[in-house]
Parts: sequence; C-alpha cells; structure tokens
Amino acid sequence: MSNRSLEGRCTVVVGCQWGDEGKGKIVDVLAEDADVIARYQGGANAGHTVHVGDDEFVLHQIPSGILHPGTRCLLGNGVVLDVLQFFEEYDAVRARGVDVEGRVGVSTRAHLLMPYHRVLDQAREGAATDKIGTTGRGIGPAYEDKAGRRGLRLADLSDRPRAERLAEEGLRRARARLDDLRADAPSALEADTRRALDAAERLLGAMGTEVGLEITAALDAGRRVLLEGAQGTALDLDHGTYPYVTSSNTTAGGAAIGVGIGPTRVERVLGVVKAYTTRVGNGPLPTAFDEAMDERMRELGGEFGATTGRPRRCGWFDAVLVRLAARVNGLTGLAVTKLDVLDTLPELRIATAYEVGGERLEEFPADIGHLERAAPVYETLPGWRRSTAGSRRLEDLPREARAYLDRIEGLAGAPVRMVSVGTRRDQIIHRD
Ligand code: GDP
Ligand code: IMO
Ligand code: MG
Repeated sequence: MSNRSLEGRCTVVVGCQWGDEGKGKIVDVLAEDADVIARYQGGANAGHTVHVGDDEFVLHQIPSGILHPGTRCLLGNGVVLDVLQFFEEYDAVRARGVDVEGRVGVSTRAHLLMPYHRVLDQAREGAATDKIGTTGRGIGPAYEDKAGRRGLRLADLSDRPRAERLAEEGLRRARARLDDLRADAPSALEADTRRALDAAERLLGAMGTEVGLEITAALDAGRRVLLEGAQGTALDLDHGTYPYVTSSNTTAGGAAIGVGIGPTRVERVLGVVKAYTTRVGNGPLPTAFDEAMDERMRELGGEFGATTGRPRRCGWFDAVLVRLAARVNGLTGLAVTKLDVLDTLPELRIATAYEVGGERLEEFPADIGHLERAAPVYETLPGWRRSTAGSRRLEDLPREARAYLDRIEGLAGAPVRMVSVGTRRDQIIHRD
C-alpha cells in the first residue's frame, strides 16, 4: 500500500513532545516509499527504535530508513557527528546483515563531536546542582563549539595538520574546564581524540558528501525525501522548556537549515505524537501521572530510554503542548503512536489548558516557573478496554478510540494521518 502521508516529495517527520514519540517506527514505515532519508540535527543523544520481524534495531545517528534496502541515508550539516559511535553503529548494523555499502553519506559541513565533548558533558552534569539530565553524549559542548566558531568540521580533515590544531585547542580548552569542575580527564582522552581524527579522515574519504546538493538533486529528479527529526518540540533550544532542552533546533524549521535545502522545498510536515506523554531527563512535565499510574504506564508502554535506559516519566496527553507543536512546526498531519498502550485504561484524560496562579493559560508558556506550577485543565474521555493491536483501518478501532483520536485532532488543529498500534511494521493505520 502506498503511503499517503508521503504525497509531497519532501516530508519532515518531527517529534511533538519530549522525544521518544516513535519517530523511528514512523520513519521506517514511510521509508518503504522513500528514496532518501536524512537526519538534520542532534547526534547520538537520539535513540530511534525500529522493529523488523523479530529483530529490534536502536539507531542513534544513522537514519531509520537504513533498514529498507536501496534507500540513501544521509547525516546533514546540522548533526553533531560522534564519529567513533558512528562507525560502531555502522559496523553493528552491517554485522546484522543490512547491506549498508554505498548507502550512507555524511555532510562535510557537519561538526565533529569529539571525545572531550562527551567528557565535558558528563563532568558538567556531575558537578551541577541543577542538572539538565542530559544523555551524557556531549551534545551541549559540541554545539557550543560550533556556535563559538571554534568547532572542527568533517571537511577540516582534508587538511590533517589544521584538524589536529583545532582538536588540540579543543582538548586544551576542555582540560581547563575540567580543572574548573575539579574533574579528572580520563587517561585515554588524548588517544581517543587521535582515534576520532583517524576515523573522521576515513569517513571523509568514504562517505563525505554535500548533503544539500544531493537532496536538492533528488527532489529535482522527483525522488521522495524524508527529513528525520530527533528529540522533540519541547526539547527545541528556542521553543522548548528552556533550559531543560537539547542544544539544537529540533523543530521543522531546523530541517531545511540542517540538511542545506531551501525551506520552500519542504511540502509536508508530519508530527509524531505518542497517545500519552513521556519525558526523560529533568524539567517540568505538567500532565505527569501520580506515582502508581506512572509506574503502571511505564510498564505498559516499556517506557525506558532507548539511549540511556533511564525510566521515562509518563503523563496524560497534553494538547497545550501539541498545539504549540502544530504551530511552530506548521504540521500538515499527525502520526499518533502507541495507541495500544492505552487499551486497558477505563478512562483517559487530555489537558486542554493550564491554570497558573488562578489564571487560565491556553498557550504553552515561555516561563519555566509557570510550567513548573501549571495545573492542567483536563477533559475526561471513556476508554475502550479492548485490544487495538490488530486494527489496520480506522473502522477497525473501537468507537471510543476513534473519539479519542478525533479529539486529539480537533485540539491540535492538524489531521491524524497515521495511527500506530504496536511496534511491528504492519501495526499501522494509514488514513486518506
Ligand atoms: P523515537 O526516539 O521517537 O524514535 O522513539 P523511541 O524508539 O525512543 O521510543 C519509542 C518506543 O515505542 C520504541 O520502543 C518503539 O519500539 C515503541 N513503539 C513505537 N510505536 C509503537 C506503538 O504503536 N505501540 C507500541 N506498543 N510501541 C511502539
Ligand atoms: P530521541 O531522538 C528523549 C533529553 C535528555 C535531556 C535533554 C538534553 O530518541 O527522541 P542532551 O543529551 O540532548 O543534551 O540532553 O534532552 N533528550 C532526549 N529525550 N529522546 C531523545 O531523543 C532525547 N535526546 C535528548 O534526556 O533531558
Ligand atoms: Mg528515542
């Protein structure tokens, strides 16, 4: 069956909550009809899970389209590339029988996330009193070097002495910051930095490419392109719950910049939302469940981080957040995932507004203090108490489940185009 959510030639798939919405599964399903799939931001902080038959793959940097033979998978300039992790992932995927040869390309403009960025991220989190709860993958420090115009890009490896100079300076700055934090630099840091440079040189020769040129040419030739977001709208550096965010623009606007195409080339923006809400890492979660319900949903949904294994906090569906996501991403459609996880609940709640200090807020606030104090205004809907896992058409779903989806659609102001009812590829409902 063709994917109607892919009618446009260039589609952005973007997370609309705090990440882990099921982007990997949705991209994998859509990739069946796509030619090129590209990541546009983030790095190995992402963990995108894809099930193929009985096999589970967790992808961190390689786009989730890799499991469809023949697709071209690209990492854009907006990614901060952990080259050692990249080769580990590439080799692991290949060792599991996926033909990756000639299928992966990396932007020569991508910044390299070096071993000292990881060490700094972890040391900073270790020392902080008010922790962000990062994934410890070095994301913040790598983007800081990029914005500070002292970063090292893949293209720099064409001039090894220059790349070494940049890495030495990075290492020296990192050591000074570690001293300030009273943290020790691991003894292997220098050797790891050298290994990363060697790997990057190899990568440049084998897979370095102009991602923007490739994607523009593919679109001009009528090919279908998917731009795969990592993290989610509430983790966006500008639009999320700052400072409890990641260090990149996760939202759809970041896609054009992060792969190097014009924004007018994007035709569809598909927002991925979980049928409830989760968050891993620190920061406010207004619709958080009480402890018992939190525990229950974590078990039902298997809500443990795909990158760090940390338990995810769970809560009711937050339409205030998803309305923000619809606006800032310009969503043309929604993909609702994990509907099956709600199958046993007698009733469901949706937050339609917040109350802060006796005042009603309809829009997701910028002020972190407001978010921390926000009391959600809930609407209650009946549950369906039947399995949805076997549903393949909207008509197969219980009436209450359809009403729940209709309400989400109405509150978000974007049409539901796909519904996922399980981890498997075929557990998906496409809607015209
Ligand atoms: P991503 O980071 O947005 O790609 O999401 P993750 O892979 O981190 O987390 C989503 C989790 O939910 C993964 O374990 C998926 O296998 C799983 N998942 C995705 N869609 C569904 C679904 O419709 N039902 C269920 N039960 N699990 C799903
Ligand atoms: P995917 O792509 C969920 C969270 C971290 C932390 C904050 C900053 O799988 O949806 P960072 O390491 O980026 O500096 O951490 O962002 N975070 C994610 N949460 N899913 C992700 O990725 C995440 N990537 C980062 O937990 O709160
Ligand atoms: Mg994830």
